[in-house]
Amino acid sequence: MMQGKLKVVALLAAALLTSSAYARAEEDFLDWLFNFDRQKNVKPVTDKQYQDECGACHFAYQPGLLPARSWDALLNAEALRKHFGVNAELDDDTLKVIHDYAVDNAADKSWYKRSRKIAVATEEGPAPLRITELRYISLKHRKISGEMIKGNKAVKSLSFCDRCHTQAEKGVYDADTVNIPNYPNWDGWFNK
Ligand code: HEC
Ligand code: HEC
Repeated sequence: MMQGKLKVVALLAAALLTSSAYARAEEDFLDWLFNFDRQKNVKPVTDKQYQDECGACHFAYQPGLLPARSWDALLNAEALRKHFGVNAELDDDTLKVIHDYAVDNAADKSWYKRSRKIAVATEEGPAPLRITELRYISLKHRKISGEMIKGNKAVKSLSFCDRCHTQAEKGVYDADTVNIPNYPNWDGWFNK
């Protein structure tokens, strides 16, 4: 009797270990690891200069979305002159304020829950230069089709977080605050 039940459990476990289920298990592990009752989100931007300068072309990403060494690599005069194909140069005084603000509030210096996850996930390897390339972030978006992003005139790029995350400015990224423009029933499209 008991052995029969165990066999069923083993078969179920094997069936669950398809590659996407494996990715999900890894994601859940990260979720579990830092699921303390700390503040859940990412700390909102509090520096006006950062908000104004870094919110000019896209939404001002919270510093808690990347580790300090990423901000170090992104926020220097040379890097800003060729910032993702555009010139985002700043005068020296403004650059210092913005650099220091980003580094001081980076993911690896924050206790906000999502920042902790990003900090852990980026502990090793070269400094990531994009939030969208973080494994944690790309896993979260793996079910969204190109049609809903690049092919969607109201979104265009996964980099524009605030086009879908209606409370991104507040540092809130929970799935229940998402609205994909032109896809009001987006969660029905995902075969969860
Ligand atoms: C002149 C316009 C402009 C300004 C000003 C600007 N950026 Fe950008 N930024 C861009 C473009 C364009 C991209 C690439 C977007 C894409 O790939 O869709 C980008 C991408 C980024 C990314 C990567 C997003 C991703 O894909 O994960 C980060 C991080 C970033 N910017 C931070 C900053 C910060 C911090 C500042 C303030 C110093 C800043 N940007 C100012 C134009 C700008
Ligand atoms: C095309 C719309 C879209 C864009 C643009 C987008 N997201 Fe998302 N995001 C989603 C959807 C949809 C989900 C929920 C996925 C699911 O439930 O499987 C999500 C989930 C997340 C989650 C996990 C939420 C949770 O409840 O666990 C985080 C964190 C997140 N996004 C951050 C970002 C950041 C940071 C950016 C910008 C760099 C971004 N997203 C850009 C649509 C988007």
